[in-house]
Amino acid sequence: MTAPSSSTAPRAAAEKGVGTIADLPGPPRLPLIGNAHQLIRPTRLHLTVERWAQRHGSIFSVDVGPRSFVVIAEADAINAILRDRPDGFRRWRDQREIIEEMNGSGVFIAEGDDWRRQRRLIVTSLNTHNLHRYFDIVRVSTERLQRRLLEAASDDRPLEIADELTSYTVDITSALALGHDLNTLERRDNELQGHIQRVLMMTGRRLSAPIPYWRRLRLPADRALDRSLAAMEAAVDDFIEQARARMEADPKRYEEPPNLLEGMLAAQRADSTFSDEEIVGNVFTILLAGEDTTANTLGWTIWLLSSEPELQARLAAEADEALGSGTKPIPYEGVEQLALAEATVQEALRLKGVAPVIGVEPIEDTMLCGTQMPAGTRLLLLLRQAGIATAGRSGFHPDRWLEDSDDTRPAKSLAFGAGPRFCPGRNLALLEAKAALATIARDFEWQLDGSAAPVREAFKFAMVPDGLRVRLRRRS
Ligand code: HEM
Repeated sequence: MTAPSSSTAPRAAAEKGVGTIADLPGPPRLPLIGNAHQLIRPTRLHLTVERWAQRHGSIFSVDVGPRSFVVIAEADAINAILRDRPDGFRRWRDQREIIEEMNGSGVFIAEGDDWRRQRRLIVTSLNTHNLHRYFDIVRVSTERLQRRLLEAASDDRPLEIADELTSYTVDITSALALGHDLNTLERRDNELQGHIQRVLMMTGRRLSAPIPYWRRLRLPADRALDRSLAAMEAAVDDFIEQARARMEADPKRYEEPPNLLEGMLAAQRADSTFSDEEIVGNVFTILLAGEDTTANTLGWTIWLLSSEPELQARLAAEADEALGSGTKPIPYEGVEQLALAEATVQEALRLKGVAPVIGVEPIEDTMLCGTQMPAGTRLLLLLRQAGIATAGRSGFHPDRWLEDSDDTRPAKSLAFGAGPRFCPGRNLALLEAKAALATIARDFEWQLDGSAAPVREAFKFAMVPDGLRVRLRRRS
């Protein structure tokens, strides 16, 4: 394994000649519990750790009971670690165990050669050629979202826009992953969607729980999770069977699969080593990885723009030009041209990345940032903090993504991760986000609902804008 070079090491630690984890700086701890009492609120966990990074530097350690974590906040070091996968580093063991005990599998928790195979399956079915074909699904949902928002604007009431954005990404993701249109934008209270949301919520809760209480004590929420998982499994099996029957009846679908599920089944026919279990695991993975991430990215973008009427007007002008009036179907090529919309989403991700932290561990003993790390050391990588530190001027400036000068462009945004395991859904997420943002900006002006409490960051499965309420007005 190649350890990230010490030339990329955070200076503070290296200069002090720190040798072991015990020598790293960090917040003061209490006997036995360490820092557990400061991390008791999982929804604020990322903020607490980011605040510590400002005080203790770009590498420090934290104890939660008997477990030590090493936190790293420097972009170069994080990049080097993320690029040294799957051979040098893997996801946290506990993370894999938690997902596996929920019968989870798929590319997100796979490692080594198993990961290489599954990654091929996912990347092939999400390539640009296929994305172009999947665009019909994005278009239909964007038009439904537009109708929903027109209704809301005519009521002149504050709108919990995050709910609409979640329905938007749920409809796209489930149509892609299940080959089935749930249409939650127009028909609320879909049972399957209720199960998916519960699994997302409980996965987030378990991944950030200080102790795995559910292994000793099953609360009503844990029993409800078991029921939701069973219902989802039965539904996914059923959707796979239906997709196979459609493909057998119309073999052209193997050449030009209209959705991701059929894309994976086509890949399985071309390479019979892909098992049915792998297909099911990756359907679950995409349902969980594709919904809340993109919906909340849109939510943060709307929040950041709510006090920027000039930027809203520029986005509206760009959308008018690229998409045409609201009466025509949105063209794929038009969405591809939305440079300012893409820059705005990227800037929102830089400041409010929905995955502000990720966890990995070295597979073998290694030297990292001047510190000896035994195999299995839990590393917490502060993606958001590192991305913010590398940008020139501070604040929300989408134009920095369009400027040529290296002084103003962000050197690195780690919002989608980095290296061989970077997010394979990035292009799909940007396509969905641009289509929705441009349509919203073309048709509406908006501001925050003044009577609502301030929006706060809450780390659930993704980092969400808690309390986001806006007032929409039709653009004249
Ligand atoms: C704005 C929306 C999104 C953000 C910010 C995001 C962010 C991320 C991040 C930070 C990772 C970890 C990368 C790493 O370990 O280096 C990841 C992995 C992943 N994402 Fe996304 N994601 C988004 C949307 C999506 C969508 C739409 C899909 C699928 C349709 C998706 C599927 C995945 C998968 C399968 C992985 C695991 C990849 C692997 O382990 O090889 N994501 N994402």
